[in-house]
Amino acid sequence: MRATATAHPNIAVIKYWGKRDLPLNLPAVPSLSVTLDRFTSVTTVTWGIDGPVDHIEMNGGPASAKEAAKLSAFLDRLDPRRPRARVVTSNNFPTAAGLASSASGFAALALAANAASGAGLSASALSVLARQGSGSATRSLWGGWVEWAVGEAADGSDSHGIPVAPADHWDLRVVVAIVGAGPKDTGSTEGMIRTQRTSPLYPGFVQSAAEDLAAAREALLRRDLATLGERMEHSTLKMVGTMTSARPPIRYWRPASMAAMDAVLALRAQGVGAWATSDAGPNVKVLCAAADAERVAEALRAVVTEVVVLGVGGDPTVELG
Ligand code: PMV
Repeated sequence: MRATATAHPNIAVIKYWGKRDLPLNLPAVPSLSVTLDRFTSVTTVTWGIDGPVDHIEMNGGPASAKEAAKLSAFLDRLDPRRPRARVVTSNNFPTAAGLASSASGFAALALAANAASGAGLSASALSVLARQGSGSATRSLWGGWVEWAVGEAADGSDSHGIPVAPADHWDLRVVVAIVGAGPKDTGSTEGMIRTQRTSPLYPGFVQSAAEDLAAAREALLRRDLATLGERMEHSTLKMVGTMTSARPPIRYWRPASMAAMDAVLALRAQGVGAWATSDAGPNVKVLCAAADAERVAEALRAVVTEVVVLGVGGDPTVELG
C-alpha cells in the first residue's frame, strides 16, 4: 500500500534542550510549541517493494547513506518484520537550518508509514514513534499549540505530544528572519549532550522549565501575548545561556542573529508587541499579532536578507494511494 502525509514544522515557545534518556530520546524538560503554516514536509511511503533494500529519496535525489540508515531504522521501529519500502520525502523550506525540518519530516514519515502499512497506531503512539526520529517531531503530529510531556514510564510510552489549542485559537504570526540556510555545525543531539555534561547553568534551566511551561500554557489559553512572549524569550535565553556556557561553547547565533534580536527590542520600545526565539541555528523567529506582522517583517528586513511571515498551521494530513 501507498500513502502520502503532509506535516508542518513547529517552533518551540518553551524550549526542549537536553535528554533524560538517550536511546529512547526522552526529554529532560517539558516543552510547548506552535505549528507553522505554509512550510511542509510531504512524504510518500510505499510499503512492500521488490529488492533487498529500502529506496529512499530526499528533496529530489537519493538520500545519503547516513540519512537512509536513519529512516530505515525508524521504519523498523514501526514493524521489525516489515517488507522493504520506498520513501520519497521533500521539504519546501531549507533543511537543517534550525527551521525544524526534522520535526515535520519524521512526523510525516510516521503518519505515511502508519497508513501505508495499515498499522493503525493512534496519534499519541505515532508521536512516540516520531520522537525517536527527532525530539521536536513529537510535537508535529498536531496543528496549533502542542505540549510535549516529559512522561514517567520507563519505556517512554507516555512522553508524547498533547494538543493544547487548535490553530484557530489565536491569529498570531511567526516572522522568521533567515540568517543562514546552510546546515548547522553542531547537531542538536551533540549540542544537548555537551551542554548537559559541561554547563554549570544547565540545572537552572531544568528546574525552571515546568513553571515556564505552566505560565506559557495559561497565557496561551487566555490569549495574553505579552506574558507568552516574555516567557518564550526567557526560556530561549536560558537555553542559549546553557549552550554558551558549555565546554567547548556552542554558539548558533551569528552577528545578524543579534541584529535581529536588537530590532525586536527596538520594536518593543516603540510599543510593538514582538518577542524573539531561536533554536539550534542562527535564524530568529518573532512572535507577534497578525496586525503587527508587516511592521515586524519590515524591521527585520533592515538587518537580514530574507524574512518569511508564517501563521499558525493546522493538523497534518494523510492520503492513501
Ligand atoms: O528535535 P531536535 O533534536 O532537533 O531538537 C530541537 C531543539 C530546539 O529546537 C532547540 C528546541 C525545541 O524545543 O524545538
